[in-house]
Amino acid sequence: MEFPIIDGIPILHANVRGQVDAYLLHLIAREDLPHEIETLISDAAGPGSAYDSMKQAMSSYAWDHYEFGASEPSLSEGAVAAKHRPGSASRCLIQAIEKSGKLPSNTVSLDVGCATGGTTFDVAGKFRGLVLGVGLNFSLLRIAARVLREGRVVYPRRQGGVVYERREFSVSLAEADRVDFWCCDACCLPLGPDSLGFVSALNVLDCVPSPLSLLKEIEASLVSEGKLAVCCPYDWSPAATPLEEWLGGHSQRGQNQGDSASILEALLTPGALPGSLEKLRMIDSEPDIPWSVRVHARSFAEYQAHLVVAQKYA
Ligand SMILES: C[S@@+](CC[C@H](N)C(=O)[O-])C[C@H]1O[C@@H](n2cnc3c(N)ncnc32)[C@H](O)[C@@H]1O
Repeated sequence: MEFPIIDGIPILHANVRGQVDAYLLHLIAREDLPHEIETLISDAAGPGSAYDSMKQAMSSYAWDHYEFGASEPSLSEGAVAAKHRPGSASRCLIQAIEKSGKLPSNTVSLDVGCATGGTTFDVAGKFRGLVLGVGLNFSLLRIAARVLREGRVVYPRRQGGVVYERREFSVSLAEADRVDFWCCDACCLPLGPDSLGFVSALNVLDCVPSPLSLLKEIEASLVSEGKLAVCCPYDWSPAATPLEEWLGGHSQRGQNQGDSASILEALLTPGALPGSLEKLRMIDSEPDIPWSVRVHARSFAEYQAHLVVAQKYA
């Protein structure tokens, strides 16, 4: 009873109370209110409120993970929207999988920071075996869990300001019976060592308090010859990661001139830096993966992410 399962999502967090407290609004959010009442709540909470941030994240990730071709651009979505296609995460993951080669047999895959779960289903489509998507943001996990159990994507798509339209459509995912979503901290995984054959960590390194600790946790969780696909735009923020823990983005007088991409590659080259991982070695990389984030119908952000694929050696 201390690790509850809510809406089909087990909360397997070392600090359950802290996790529940941090995502309280998400956990008790209602879905039964008429749309007009929801719009009134949106106005009352206002821009930048916790309610608005929760819906903004749902809007951006569900759009990218599931609106492939399903999206009917609304009247206001014109030339700018046409330049920014959904599916950035999926395209990056497919490239990473192609670079990963064969996996050790009979292993479980893990999608770290899975958000609304689109890439978790992509992993299941490419590799055999069970696939687990883990994240902390409960309302994003709830979207993923609904896709898993009902085959329906339901989310608020931001049009602008605090105006959101309710999106609802079906998706068919042949591999869903091998997928599950858990709410847990990737830096303290509830899994034994040497248990995973593949780990994807897309845009998560710059979201955790210690990126190096996350890499070490993944290194310990992989089996020998297991693969890690890590991708990051290095959009560092002290709200998520204290500056001292950033991989680059500071100390430009140092050996790597503060360049995050070369520091990550050096960390995944045993012996290259004092903190380099002992068993994870980079096997391929891609410097500039284009990545679109939909903010609202008339606003998109464009990133260039760095992709690295590494293998664990015994
Ligand atoms: C920037 S989003 C990336 C989402 C997705 N991978 C993508 O690229 O579309 C970061 C995700 O990582 C999750 N996250 C952040 N810190 C985490 C942690 N310590 N353990 C597990 N998930 C975490 C957040 O909940 C969020 O869903």
